[in-house]
Amino acid sequence: MQKVAIIGAGRVGETTAQILAIQEICREVVLIDIREDVPQGVALDIFQTAPFFGSDTRVTGSNDPAAMQGADIIVVTAGVPRKPGMSRSDVLQTNLDVIDGIVADIVKYAPAAIVIMVTNPVDVLTYRVWQLTGWRRERVLGQAGVLDASRMAAFIAMETGFSIRDITTFVLGGHGDAMVPVSRFCTVNGIPVSQFIEPGRLGEIEQRTRGGGAEILALRKNSSAYDAPGASVAAMIDAISHHRNRLLPCVAILEGEYGETDIAMGVPCVLSHQGLQRVIDLGLNEAEVKMFKESAAGVRADIALMPAPG
Ligand code: LAC
Repeated sequence: MQKVAIIGAGRVGETTAQILAIQEICREVVLIDIREDVPQGVALDIFQTAPFFGSDTRVTGSNDPAAMQGADIIVVTAGVPRKPGMSRSDVLQTNLDVIDGIVADIVKYAPAAIVIMVTNPVDVLTYRVWQLTGWRRERVLGQAGVLDASRMAAFIAMETGFSIRDITTFVLGGHGDAMVPVSRFCTVNGIPVSQFIEPGRLGEIEQRTRGGGAEILALRKNSSAYDAPGASVAAMIDAISHHRNRLLPCVAILEGEYGETDIAMGVPCVLSHQGLQRVIDLGLNEAEVKMFKESAAGVRADIALMPAPG
């Protein structure tokens, strides 16, 4: 894996590029943004950190969508973030126009790439990319569950004092207030987290996870989260570019898994060099299925708001 194009040189795009470079996850990163000079400035700033990390990843910026040519992975972060008090769905109409234009560029300049959608509402817009491109679902993914799971892991580490290295968490469903943290599959080095946190407290941690993005937005006031979102995108790219077969919660198009079709939602995915290698069906219990279905209904309602392609 040689080249990653990041569309949108805002904070998430910048953080993703920085991590890709520090960890030399790919050889080349190009940041593309319509704002004149901005992606060039961001790229220069990042590349000037290379001496500190000994990184040979070349980072450049461009205003020309043609710069995505030859990219193996395209990350889409462009669009408006929500403001305090807004839901992720509130930015759908604005971001839809942005994304439709970007998809036209992707189809033109990088027709063989794998796309990772980040712009919110991420489930709906991942679906949009799939719908507009007509590509197989292997090449159309969205980032949300890696972030939501990292938030839950951080909360469990804060609560228990255990090393973050030993904590595994899983968060499924749509990336919204109805997301589904599945505590049954959360462990401290294989030991169910329920052995360390009593049910009421665990429920509070699940709820804090659901509101994890809003909590940061309310605290930062002028910005939604970008450090953990950028790190989450970089983790997905690392899994793909190194053909790791990592099992990560990602937004994927469902083809019958979890009883759903014609929708994009967060599910456990195996990521390899071809993108989505497969979706793992976890066998959810009754309560989890109920939450998953509610989350699906929310995503479906937003999908129904989108005008037909074309
Ligand atoms: C969040 C936004 C980026 O969860 O969706 O922080």
